[in-house]
Order: sequence, then structure tokens, then C-alpha cells
Amino acid sequence: MRQRKPLVVANWKMNGNSDLVQQMSDALSVLKQPLPEILICPPVILLTDFPKHQNYKLGAQNVSEQHSGAFTGEISADMLLAAGASHVIIGHSERRALYGELDTVISQKVKVAIDAGLTPVVCVGETLQQREEEKTLEVLARQLDAVYAAQPYLLARSVVSYEPVWAIGTGRTATPQQAQQVHHFIRQHLAQYDAQAADVLRIIYGGSVTATNCEALFAEADIDGALIGGASLKVAEFSAICTMA
Ligand code: G3P
Repeated sequence: MRQRKPLVVANWKMNGNSDLVQQMSDALSVLKQPLPEILICPPVILLTDFPKHQNYKLGAQNVSEQHSGAFTGEISADMLLAAGASHVIIGHSERRALYGELDTVISQKVKVAIDAGLTPVVCVGETLQQREEEKTLEVLARQLDAVYAAQPYLLARSVVSYEPVWAIGTGRTATPQQAQQVHHFIRQHLAQYDAQAADVLRIIYGGSVTATNCEALFAEADIDGALIGGASLKVAEFSAICTMA
């Protein structure tokens, strides 16, 4: 019996529309318990299109580190809560690489999200070059320390997602053993901040997860679910992954 309830997260990125909302909602609503915790993170404008249902929760893909004010284009944590989100993805590698999000901003976003009552899904991961240079653990430690070293209390209210950049959207998944090794490292590393929180922390894996490879990943001791991009846009495949977690 797993101590940590599995979590399966759909990150639709900048994809989807109200038809997909309806199809996904219909499909997930008829799944029979026991299910993992299921979280759908559509583009924020679609959040309010989702009917409420006990089988899934809703999240956003980003949040402002500010509370309100003259920040054109930004959306605050309170606004996400009002739109029905309970979670928010923070520090996705696409935000780090394409929008220049630095560790310091990510750290602030995690704090603002938690203080507002959202659960952050904090993404960390190394690039291919960093892996080849054997810097994976060093990079992950830096990304995690940036969030938790100065504010360890945040750990008990977080989810962490390991997403190796080289596995995102490439069809090249980390092997279950590679992922497990890193997840174990993350849990051990975070134990220095709060051992009890690290023990119950859900650490999910992201990067080319499909209905075909998810079972082997979920079988690993420290892999508590998945953060899914491409396959989360396919209703039947995503539903199947949920039933396997
Ligand atoms: O956040 C999910 C992600 O970046 C993985 O995307 O398409 O490789 O499942 P994908």
C-alpha cells in the first residue's frame, strides 16, 4: 500500500479549447474510484469552463509573484483561486528557458501561491548538456535550494515535479531507473529542510509519459505520479494513464 496518494497532472500548455474541456470532463467524470488525485491545468481562460467534479481538480500553469497592480498580462494567485484552481505549476522548464524565469522569481511565486492557498507543483530538471556533464544532481540541488532553503515551511505544502528537459516533448523518456534515482535524490536532499515533509512529499515525473510507459514509472518507489504534456491532450490516453496510477 502506497503511503503517498498518486497524483496525475495534465499540463495542456497553450493547447485545448472548450470542446476538449467537455470531452475531458465527461471522460474523467465516469472513471470509477479508486483513482489517483487528478489535476488538469488548461490555459487559464478555460478554467471556468470545467464543470466541477469530485474526480478531478484544476490548476494553472503559471502565477504572478505579485499580488495586484500594474502588471500587464499577469494573473494573481487570488484570481486563480477565484477561477476554480487549487494548484499551480511553477518553474516549468519552458518558463525558465523561454521567459527567463530565474530561481529567485520561482521561489517568490511558490511563496505567493502557498500563502494564497494554492498548492504549487514545483518543476525542476536538467538539460541534456547538464546531464552529459554529470551536473544533474548539482542543478537539481540548486533549483530546490532556491525555493526551500530560506523558506523550508513551504515544503509541506508543495508537490515537486522532476522533468528532465531532454525528455520533454521528445519522445525520449527517462528510464524508470534513471527517474527513480533522481526522485530518491530529491527526497533525500529535501529531508534536510523537513524530514517528515520530505517523506510524504509527492514527487512526480514529467517527460514523454504515455499510456505505454507510465506503469513502469509508477512502479518505482519514489515516483508518485506524472506531469503529462502531449498525452494529456488525448482524452482516452490520459484517462487510461489515470487508471494506471
Ligand atoms: O509539463 C509536462 C511536460 O513538460 C512534459 O511534456 O509532452 O513530454 O509529456 P510531454
